[in-house]
This record gives sequence, structure tokens and C-alpha cells, in this order.
Amino acid sequence: MLFDLVVGACSIYGGSWIEGAGAAYAENEALRWLSNLAGLPAEAGGVFVPGGTIGNLSAMVGARKAAIASFEAAGKPLPQRWAFVVSQTAHSSVPSAAEVMGVDVIRAETDSRRRLTGDTVDAALSQHGDRVCGVVATAGSTNLGVVDDLASVGALCRERDVWFHVDAAYGGAALAAPQARAQFSGIEHADSLIIDPHKWLFAPYDCCALIWRNPDQGRAAHAQHAGYLEFLNAFGDWNPSDFAIQLTRRARGLPFWFSLATYGSDAYGTAIQLTIDLAREAGRQVEAADHLRLVWEPQLSIVVFERIGWDGAQYQARSIEMMNEGLAFVVPSRHDGKPVFRFCFINPRTSTEDIAVIIDALR
Ligand SMILES: Cc1ncc(COP(=O)(O)O)c(C=O)c1O
Repeated sequence: MLFDLVVGACSIYGGSWIEGAGAAYAENEALRWLSNLAGLPAEAGGVFVPGGTIGNLSAMVGARKAAIASFEAAGKPLPQRWAFVVSQTAHSSVPSAAEVMGVDVIRAETDSRRRLTGDTVDAALSQHGDRVCGVVATAGSTNLGVVDDLASVGALCRERDVWFHVDAAYGGAALAAPQARAQFSGIEHADSLIIDPHKWLFAPYDCCALIWRNPDQGRAAHAQHAGYLEFLNAFGDWNPSDFAIQLTRRARGLPFWFSLATYGSDAYGTAIQLTIDLAREAGRQVEAADHLRLVWEPQLSIVVFERIGWDGAQYQARSIEMMNEGLAFVVPSRHDGKPVFRFCFINPRTSTEDIAVIIDALR
């Protein structure tokens, strides 16, 4: 947090190499750490953008650009309206990006574990054929923490030559926890990937890592061209602005890099595993409470449960009361049309006693 103050006070221009090479170098080191955790190739790279919403939009614009290039190279006519295949559980920023882009969203079916799979995506692709310019998989859905079956979806995208974007805005942090890594198998096939350090990687807002498997594709979609920019482009070949929808930018990845360099990456894995363990413990406490019902077995650090016998208004009222009492900020959500409560742990200092107090306050 304090380093963010330093970054703000220095007001480094983080858009071009010539103006902010030191900052861009350090940001790239932090991006490299995430990219290596995901198993992307050595040449992968990108930029820190304000949040997952802009990250998803920038990646989807890149996917469409690549599809246009490949259609044109093959002499195929461009569809009237492009579409993305996404999961039922995709974050709201995905349809919102589609709306900004003027493209459609096709919601593929999910399996019994609410995951997008190669088969469900295949069915959607077979139906919508050449209109699809990309598949958006989620690695850690916002409501339940579900990680799509990235291995089968990634393999299918390779086979069908369709762009594979992975929205790991929340869940991607768990790549740092060795015990959780297996859930993400297949993420290494991503053409583009987002992870928000401002969610579960303890970085101050606003900080989303957008990583391109082939940074040239990010550049092709986003580099701006103007007479006065030509001079800047002559210095070095890595201008962070080229990789997303933006030009002027603050070096927002620096506080995250500084923290990684200070504490070491192992400290991240340990802290994240603590919150995953905490979620499992919270799940057990919920199961043991006779006024609550666990709705979903915690996969990452999210615990979703029902307060037996309450309607939506009661959930709402109790949440507001707990906030006013200064006790907890537990936001009601919805699962299959029913109101639920949802814990999402990102602070490793949360204790099992804290959870017990909240569970008791829901009696
Ligand atoms: C899976 C997922 N993707 C994208 C976003 C959007 O991220 P941001 O709020 O940083 O724009 C969120 C936010 O919760 C999310 O959970």
C-alpha cells in the first residue's frame, strides 16, 4: 500500500519504454511470475490494466482482431455479427464487453459441476459455426469459485482454431498455491489470460494483469498509431500501452511487484493456501450449524450457504444490520434463483473464530 503512495507521488509515465523503462521492466517481472505460474511460453507478456473488466474487454477485442485476420487470410467472408462462447457462470463484465464490442454472447451448457467443458463448448461451436471468434472460460467463478474444465476446453479451442481466453480475475491467484494448482490444468493453452492482483494477491486497487500468449496479437489489436507516437516507438520494443485499450497509464503493477520482491513469492502461496483452508473450515462450520445449509463444496476461497427459512428481504436486512454493527460485510447473493450468503476469503488473517462469530450472528 505504501509503495502505491510512492508510485503515485513519482507520477511515472508507464505507457512507453522511453518514458518509464524501469517501471515497465519491473512490471514485466511481475507479469512473468504470473505467466510462469500459468505455464505460458517464455515470450508471453502483456500489461497491467485497471481491472478485470477492462482486461476481459481488451482480450476479447484481441480475439476478434485475430479472427478477422485469419478469415481474411483464408479469403472467407466475415460474419455479420461475431460471437463469443462463454459459460453460464461467466462474470457480468463478459456480456458487458460484448455489448461494447457489438458482438453476441452464446451461453454454453455446463456439466454437473457447473463447468464449461470441451463437449459443451463443442456443441455450441457446432451450432454457431463460423460466427465464433473466441471462447471465454472462467477460472474461479465469482459466485461459487468454479474453475471450468480448462484442459478440455483449451484442447478443443486448439483443435478448432478458436481463441481461448481465460478469465482468472479472482481464481488465478490460487496458481501460486501448489495444492490448488491441479484445478487449473489446461490454463497453459490460453491465448489470453487475466488475473487481478487487486483481488486475491493482496495488491492495492487498481491492478489486473492481462497476459497474451503472443504479445504481437495484443499489439496488433491495441497499439495506437499517430505521428507523435512514432518517435516513442523507436525506443525499445516494449511499450506497455500497446497491449490494451489505453494510452496514458500509471505504472499500476509496481506496488504488486514491490510486494512480491519484498516478501518473496513463497509467502503468496502460503497466504493463499491459508485462505483456501479457511474456506474449507468455514464449510465445515456451516455444515455443523443447524440454521444453515452448505450450498456448494468450497473449491477455492468461496463458501456459499443458505440461511434456512429466510427470504430475500431477511438476508438483505441482516446484512445491513451486521454492517451497521461493524461486525461483518457479508453480502447476499443468488444461487439457482434462491437467496444465499457468500463468504469470499482473501485475507489470511481472518480466523476461524471470526467465522464462528458471523455464523452465530445469523441465528
Ligand atoms: C471472474 C471475474 N472476472 C472479472 C471481474 C471483474 O473485475 P474488476 O472488478 O476488476 O473489473 C470479476 C470481479 O469480481 C470477477 O470475479
